[in-house]
Formats: sequence, structure tokens, C-alpha cells
Amino acid sequence: MPEAGRGLTMDGGIRPGSTLAQSVSRSPDTPDVASRADLEALPKAELHLHLRGAMPLSYLRTKFRKYPPGRAIESARPRLRDRMLSQAGIRRILSSANPSREAHRLFAYSSFDGFLASYLFTGYFVREAEDLRELVSTVRQTLREQHVTYAEITVSVPEYIMHGIPLDEIMAVLAEEPDGSPTVRWIVDLVRDFGPDACEELLERVLALRPPSLVGLTLGGREHVHPPAPFRRVYEIAREGGLRTTVHAGEGRGPESVWDAVRILEVERIGHGVRAVEDPSLVRFLAEHRIPLEVCPTSNVRTAIYASIEAHPVRMLFEAGVPLSISTDDPSFFGVSLAEELAGLRRVGFSWSEIGDLAHGAFGMAFDPLAAAAQDP
Ligand code: HPA
Ligand code: ZN
Repeated sequence: MPEAGRGLTMDGGIRPGSTLAQSVSRSPDTPDVASRADLEALPKAELHLHLRGAMPLSYLRTKFRKYPPGRAIESARPRLRDRMLSQAGIRRILSSANPSREAHRLFAYSSFDGFLASYLFTGYFVREAEDLRELVSTVRQTLREQHVTYAEITVSVPEYIMHGIPLDEIMAVLAEEPDGSPTVRWIVDLVRDFGPDACEELLERVLALRPPSLVGLTLGGREHVHPPAPFRRVYEIAREGGLRTTVHAGEGRGPESVWDAVRILEVERIGHGVRAVEDPSLVRFLAEHRIPLEVCPTSNVRTAIYASIEAHPVRMLFEAGVPLSISTDDPSFFGVSLAEELAGLRRVGFSWSEIGDLAHGAFGMAFDPLAAAAQDP
């Protein structure tokens, strides 16, 4: 666990003798990858994947019949309703005589806030434990088809509670571990927008009911409105309760947020973290302390953090020796699979062999050591 300033010299540099080489090294079981087709077939690990972010359009269309969208969001608090209505695609869905036909408009937005409004909206269509079970099963199926053999799936628990599913029923769904691929482990997202006190209270309740498959904690939501520092106690409670830790940081805010994530929350991995690149001493710190970033390049382009893949800092971070795993974040929203995400790295200068190493390395950054077994199912 990193301590504040550990390993840093007075000027913020790192101690002489430290290695900045990528942690991903070639071993006899490192796969040979020479094409996109190889990547499709390769067993892969997703470490940053939101359950509702992987919701297929077909699920949404079916639920629009069960929960007509206009009525579904009637229950929304005024501030949440305003956030959703600020998104043109959502307004189109709500005003349409045939919402299912317009469902795809949910995935068109031009900003991080627009994306989060769409993500919030999908929550109104998961209102019973049976909906949640169906969504989990659909997402599992999609991962299986893509040869994702290990997935840590982030589940925004307070939002499901807000939509009427009791916590014990949510935990019961997460406790179900069907045989076969993929191996799924859960990361609870307490959603920072609810604030530190509510997160603390909910976390205590989650820990009391926690199934073995729930292994980690993150905070999603609006990082630019709710920075990491006030959530220190939440992370202490999580560690005391045996959870592994990550947090969305360095996505909606700059390097100061990533510093707070490592120094104050003492997280083991960072969700995104890419804006760390704006502070060279932070990049050196992450490399030195082997703190992996869960990098989701397409997400960052689609939510307008970067203008294009070519402008994305993933290559710079890699060359600086920061441990990286590559994930899709919200694949339905961003129209990308993990194999496509990995193949896209060719555009920023990665060789096929480096991409194969990254895919391989993700298994070693998993919160459950059993992930290694999923690499060779
Ligand atoms: N960032 C913050 N919150 C989120 C994200 C994300 O990438 N995806 C779903 N909720
Ligand atoms: Zn995310």
C-alpha cells in the first residue's frame, strides 16, 4: 500500500535505482498476438467494466415495454430528472410514440456529463431483482462470446436501491456464481454523488451482507463535483472489511485527484487515472509504486476527455513504466469490445506483441488471485 510520499525524493523525483520498466514481462505463457483475430480468440480479462455500461440495447428495448420511459422517470428527484432531460437523446426517447425505436439515441452524447446522464437513465429500467438477474446473465453471455474469461464488474449499488431493489436482494443476485466462463467478481460502486456519509453507511450494510464474489470498492459518478479526499473513511472501512480498492480518478479531474486517490484513499489501482500524465512526478510515483491504471481509451474519447485516440496518453504512460490494464468501461455506450479496444492501440504505436503483453498482464492485476486460472480455461 503506498504511503504519502514513499519512494519520492525531496524534489518529487524517484529514488535512484528504481525500475521503470513495464511490469508485464514475457513468460512462456504470454500469448503470441499478430492480428485482431488473435485478440478475439485470446482469453481476456476486463478489470473496469460497469454492469449497466454493458447493457445491450435489446435489454433496454424489452424493458421499455415493461417500464414505459416517461412513467419510469416520473419517480426521479427533480435534480436527477433535470440532469437526464439535459441529454437530447433522452428527450427524444421520452417524446417518442415508439421509445424502443429511439433507444439507440441514449448512446449519443458529446460530454462526460451527457454520458453520465445516459448512464443514470438506464438505472430506471432495472427495478426488480429479476431485472438485475437478467441483466447479469445477458452481460455474462456477451463476455463469454468475446472470450473474456475473467471480469471484475462494477455494480452501482445505491442506484439499484434507489430504484426499489432491496440491498439483500441485490447481494443475493451477486452471490450467484454459475459454472463456466467468465469468472465474475464484483466491485461495488458507492457512487460518489451520494456523498461520503451516505457511502459510509451503505458500505457498512454491504459488508454485513457481502458475498465472497464481491471483492472490491470503487467510486464512480461526477469526480469533477466530488473529488476523492472526503471519502478517506469510506476506504478505511472497506480495507478493514477485506475489500480491495480502486477509485475513478484522473478522468473528470486532473492529477491532483490521482494524488489524493493514492495518498489519501490509498487505493491499489486507479480507474482511468490517465490525466496523471499532466504531472511527471506523479507518473514516476505510479511507476515506482507499481500502481496500475485501468485505462479505457475509447471511453475517454467518447466522453470528450481527449479529442481522439491519437491524442490519448496511453502510450506515454506505458513508456514511462506505469502498469496498465486495458478495459472498455461501458462497452454498450461506447460501441467497443475489449478486442477492439486492444486492437485500437495499434493506432498509438503499440506493437501486436506489446498488446498481447497488456492483455496477458491484466490477469495479474486482478483483485482475485484466482484470475490466473481463468487465463487458461
Ligand atoms: N466514470 C465515472 N462514472 C461512471 C463511469 C465512468 O467512466 N462509468 C459509469 N459510471
Ligand atoms: Zn468507469
